[in-house]
Amino acid sequence: MITIKHESLAEFIKNYEANADKQPEQFPDQNERVCPDCGTRYPGNRTICSIEGTVLVQPMQRLGQPLVLLEALKESELAQRYVARAYLGMGLLCSGFEGLSIETVEPVAIKVLRHELADDKKTNARFVIEAQMWQALKHRNIASVLETGLIPELVARATSEQIPWKKDIAYDRPYIVMEHLKGINLKTVLQGYGPLGCELTMRIAVNVLEGLHCAHKQEIVHRDLKPSNIFLLPDEAGRIEVKVSDFGLAARMFRQTEWTPQTTKTGSVYGDPSYLSPEYLIEQKTSARSDIYALGCIMYECISGKSPFAGQHEFHTMIRHVKDRPDALPKHLEVPELLEKTIYRAINKEPSSRFDSAEHMHAHLGTLLTGVHAG
Ligand SMILES: Nc1ncnc2c1ncn2[C@@H]1O[C@H](COP(=O)(O)OP(=O)(O)OP(=O)(O)O)[C@@H](O)[C@H]1O
Ligand SMILES: [Mg+2]
Repeated sequence: MITIKHESLAEFIKNYEANADKQPEQFPDQNERVCPDCGTRYPGNRTICSIEGTVLVQPMQRLGQPLVLLEALKESELAQRYVARAYLGMGLLCSGFEGLSIETVEPVAIKVLRHELADDKKTNARFVIEAQMWQALKHRNIASVLETGLIPELVARATSEQIPWKKDIAYDRPYIVMEHLKGINLKTVLQGYGPLGCELTMRIAVNVLEGLHCAHKQEIVHRDLKPSNIFLLPDEAGRIEVKVSDFGLAARMFRQTEWTPQTTKTGSVYGDPSYLSPEYLIEQKTSARSDIYALGCIMYECISGKSPFAGQHEFHTMIRHVKDRPDALPKHLEVPELLEKTIYRAINKEPSSRFDSAEHMHAHLGTLLTGVHAG
């Protein structure tokens, strides 16, 4: 738990929650065009994707679009236990829906693997196994999974009207039902509020590290740690709980041999370029220390508002992870030297030069925070 001392951040979260109903329309804008292969969005007057050369379609025509999927969920076997109600948004891996558990009458989030990725029986089954491993992690800093499994032939039902020529493709679709996180994710905070200052950044990192430690002990690497997977949940008393989501799900994408290359605009690399470790970019290898690297990048961004390897475009950022020293933290931010060193150690290119465990980095930050209080 973190007590929010920054009045304005508390205010920002409160306003965001109060305006939650007035957030922009969540369903895709029908005036847009979207590439059915890579997902890149274009203004309505464009016809061809400049990356894939594919004919662009209206968002709703795209395979498995949210409205269609929502209807299919309502008819699926899941409807016996959950009422799927609204679309939450789409990430690189999943489409998210808000639902209600019939048994507990508690809100839940239902995440369904995007159709482009749900195209192979073996890897779909493996996605569920990864989700089951996440489900087994019980920790206050880890978002909890209620159930996971495969929805039979959801793709066929969801798309047969939209894409008649794909009718014959009928893969079971992996899903995850998880606790509905009422708060706000760190990406939204960084975009809407801006940098968080050193102390709050350290406090968030300490909470994330506690979750990571629990997972790493059980040999589960997150692999896709980024601000949109870190949720801040405020309570009445002005404290915030930190929860990390999407543990290990990206593992399916990291198995190069079984991987379909439409996952991201950046070609044969999965993930958000701002947080990808050099060892993943060079050798497609990840370990617990890759999570520490990602957290170092996140801490840098929380303090300065930008990535330590910010590039002119995604590919440039990836090259910079591999080749460049991180940008210096701006002097005017007055980041304590020990904190600066901690961040640079976490984002060292050489995994063996980083903290050797989440526990180790946690202890280090704990000491720094004690210093903040003593000072
Ligand atoms: N448990 C949850 N409670 C509330 N909203 C959620 C929950 N999980 C995901 N969401 C929302 O649903 C949408 C899709 O989530 P998802 O995790 O697939 O995407 P993401 O984290 O934005 O990106 P990525 O797939 O790249 O991690 C996002 O808008 C996310 O904020
Ligand atoms: Mg996510």
